[in-house]
Amino acid sequence: MCGIFGIITDREQPLGPILIDAARRLSYRGYDSVGCATLHADRTIDLRKDVGKVDDVAARLDFAAMTGRRGIVQLRWATFGVPSQINAQPHLDSAGEMVGAHNGNVVNNVELRQQFSAEGMIVRSMNDGESCVHAVERHLRRGCDMVEAIRRAYDDLEGDYAFVIGRADDDRLYAIKKSSGLVVGLADGATCISSDLPSILPLTRRIMRVNDGEIVILHPDRVELIRVADGEPIAREAEEIVESMAAAQKGGYAHFMLKEIHEQPQVARELLHLLNASAQVAPFLDRLANARQLYLIGCGTSYHACLLGAVYLAQLAGRPAIPILAPQFIPQGLPTVGPDDVGVFVSQSGETKDVLNALYAARQRGMTVLSLVNVIGSTLMKESEIALPMACGYEISVPATKTFTNQVLAFLYLALRLGKHATAELARLPDLIQETLTAAEPQVNAIAPELAAWDDLYCLGYGATYAIALEGALKLKEITYAHCEGMLSTEFKHGPLSAVREGYPVIFVSGPDDVPLLVSGINETACRGGHTIAIGEDDDRLRANAQTLIVLPSSGPLLSPILAVLPLQLLSYQLSVARGYDPDFPRNLSKTLTVD
Ligand code: G6P
Repeated sequence: MCGIFGIITDREQPLGPILIDAARRLSYRGYDSVGCATLHADRTIDLRKDVGKVDDVAARLDFAAMTGRRGIVQLRWATFGVPSQINAQPHLDSAGEMVGAHNGNVVNNVELRQQFSAEGMIVRSMNDGESCVHAVERHLRRGCDMVEAIRRAYDDLEGDYAFVIGRADDDRLYAIKKSSGLVVGLADGATCISSDLPSILPLTRRIMRVNDGEIVILHPDRVELIRVADGEPIAREAEEIVESMAAAQKGGYAHFMLKEIHEQPQVARELLHLLNASAQVAPFLDRLANARQLYLIGCGTSYHACLLGAVYLAQLAGRPAIPILAPQFIPQGLPTVGPDDVGVFVSQSGETKDVLNALYAARQRGMTVLSLVNVIGSTLMKESEIALPMACGYEISVPATKTFTNQVLAFLYLALRLGKHATAELARLPDLIQETLTAAEPQVNAIAPELAAWDDLYCLGYGATYAIALEGALKLKEITYAHCEGMLSTEFKHGPLSAVREGYPVIFVSGPDDVPLLVSGINETACRGGHTIAIGEDDDRLRANAQTLIVLPSSGPLLSPILAVLPLQLLSYQLSVARGYDPDFPRNLSKTLTVD
């Protein structure tokens, strides 16, 4: 979730203020480091970068004083290599004659760095943005021109990324896109390029979108597009952007929540890249394997991820784990834990007071503290022996969506590894998430008007989908202000069934292996007049018994629960909007609760 911005102008001028402003506009994506490079007419490069917030680093390193004709700024959100000055971007080539920065993940970074060193290049950091620079340098050394070198680098660099790069001894900027956002801006006397639109809009509303597999050559007065596959030029018209800055920050979606829901395929892909490459996973697994007692600790949505994590760990690794709400851990878990025990603390923000209270108490008893956390540099991350980042970037909307999906995916990945199973199947998940979102949207829209009229509803699940039912109910509660209770489906008949009357909505989330059990609950509700809505893979039994079926793509019992949360997120969103509320900022709630 990094951000890049590059600009080329028609004359040497102060570029620092433009780069700082672009960095501020990229900052909503989340980051831990920031860096600027400018390229001068005398063929020198000025590179300044460090860990910290844009305004602090810019003041400390005096970005405002940077001049040049070409400039690059990058915000880094650590994936490969810890947040540090050396890992911050942009990066130089071996001789300091070329500078570049990227956004995304180069998954063969480790192998490439070894190759670059063996080929005699100077590799200074652990960061994959540096690999982009050396991948181009490698082919320049072999005699290619710049465009040819970038075309070949594209083949060498595996993963999803976009990067921008400039050489001291020519007068252009170059960029390339492979599955990561990139857009060109065409201003008077300058052209620019960025990972996202909001950093461009203050400079110009004339833009050009870049597609995967395209190289952009930026000149001060025009851009050229070249196809990587055959090196041929591509003709493309510029377009005028009419949307407001606020709308642009939402990426064309009406709310951040909807944008974040739709980011899930991408962030899942990024998390898998990160986990596959992370040196932290092996010691994390080692702690899980050797724990006497293993607790999974969180609040709200993060606790629901713990619930599902415990199911995965038991089923796939035979590893018992106790999911527990953080405040309840203190009276219930603490009395029995000691140095042989491990707590996995799960938190989007890494700042939830309830979670930190449990953490400090656990540590007093010598318990090992591990974490799954989204916000880099948060207290939880700093206080953990090993923290696995969730690779989601900022989640702005109060209801957690993409962070839940990645927390669950991380647990699934860890459980598979711990059980010595292959993780290759997970590579299907990002596409399955996309497929589910596309298919679920019209199905959810069809039932939303009817459900919007109800102030009470239930959401039931069993086994792996129990956690999903609780999470769906929480989403519905948070942003529709309706009372929605999540429950184990088998418990419904032990009391709540009495509430059912004509049309009363009850949602059943079914894993592919749990259909018979769910069908019993569906019929107990339907015969009392309830509106039964099933979410599950296409199944004749669900079709025959539920009044409405929201169909998930066929994916099997491991992935299906993750897909099942998506229609519930969309439904919560639709109902919130239908009831006239702002799903991003529900009343009475805070994204990060730093109070008891
Ligand atoms: C608050 C938020 C919830 C969130 C919970 C835990 O209550 O409103 O959406 O799930 O905190 O947050 P965390 O940052 O620890 O995951």
